[in-house]
Amino acid sequence: MKSYETIIKNKRSKYYLFSLVALFWSSDVLASDGETLWDGKHYKQNSSVQQILAEQVLRGITFPKKTGFHVLDIGTGDGSVAKDLIIPLTGASKLTILEPSEDMLSICRETFEDKNNVSFIQGKIEDFEGSQTLFDCVTSFFAFHWVQPINRGKAFRNIAVPLRPGGLFVAVFCIGSDKPRLKTAVDQQMKSDKWAGDFKDLADPLIIGPKEIIQSLLEENNLKEQHHKVHESITPFEDDEALYSWISGWSQFKKILGDRDKEFWLETIHLYRKLTNQSTEMKSVNYIDYYLEIVAVKQ
Ligand SMILES: C[S@@+](CC[C@H](N)C(=O)[O-])C[C@H]1O[C@@H](n2cnc3c(N)ncnc32)[C@H](O)[C@@H]1O
Repeated sequence: MKSYETIIKNKRSKYYLFSLVALFWSSDVLASDGETLWDGKHYKQNSSVQQILAEQVLRGITFPKKTGFHVLDIGTGDGSVAKDLIIPLTGASKLTILEPSEDMLSICRETFEDKNNVSFIQGKIEDFEGSQTLFDCVTSFFAFHWVQPINRGKAFRNIAVPLRPGGLFVAVFCIGSDKPRLKTAVDQQMKSDKWAGDFKDLADPLIIGPKEIIQSLLEENNLKEQHHKVHESITPFEDDEALYSWISGWSQFKKILGDRDKEFWLETIHLYRKLTNQSTEMKSVNYIDYYLEIVAVKQ
């Protein structure tokens, strides 16, 4: 089965036939291994759900008061959570950002335009080779469910190695649940007669595993769990269009479906309402999802 990135690349490779300009553009996409898929500007305007949960989690943790407290944030995205929440609530005086997406990173640089205690590294956590620095804290919000299972081991090693003994690891990401969620509706839609053709070679881009896998990875890497909590996050949206607008901040199906993206999602939301017993007669719709908050200490 091809990966999501591969199918995007294959779709884009058709442009080779049409123009030299497209050839260069596609080469760039290929070279960056799919990381250009995120739209940082759009995400910035559509990440309210993430910000609410990140704030709730960070406010519940006591961070040591230490001069020069240095945080590494993984998968920083547009930088809003890092600037408005991670820096003030951890008390960080230095922040290092690790973000693979070129597009996200350029919006992130704008977010931190006026800050000189912030440094940027472009890359994925599984490829991160560390630096001379030992960090006091490693944070990551809503990024780990994008790490492919095959890379999880490397990812957790690369978190633990640059963390100083006694340093904190704080992460929030989607976790498996047996309750129906948006992903249940998406999976059904992707297999339906109408949409199966569009997704036929697509491996699941959003990886959600049980929390036990994560807990054993922590142990293997000398990260002692301090606490964990599975959050059932319920966010009301005014109507299906408003929910679609938020979804479009992180869903990358537009690259596959083009103009039909909205149609796909509105149908999916309709199905999601049914699966979660939310009447279509009500205008408003709740988005319900399950996130693992994990806090661990480096031994
Ligand atoms: C939903 S955004 C979260 C952004 C931000 N942390 C927030 O809470 O709003 C997920 C981010 O994870 C990044 N990401 C995806 N795979 C990653 C990986 N393997 N290593 C590090 N970051 C990754 C994406 O590029 C994207 O910017």
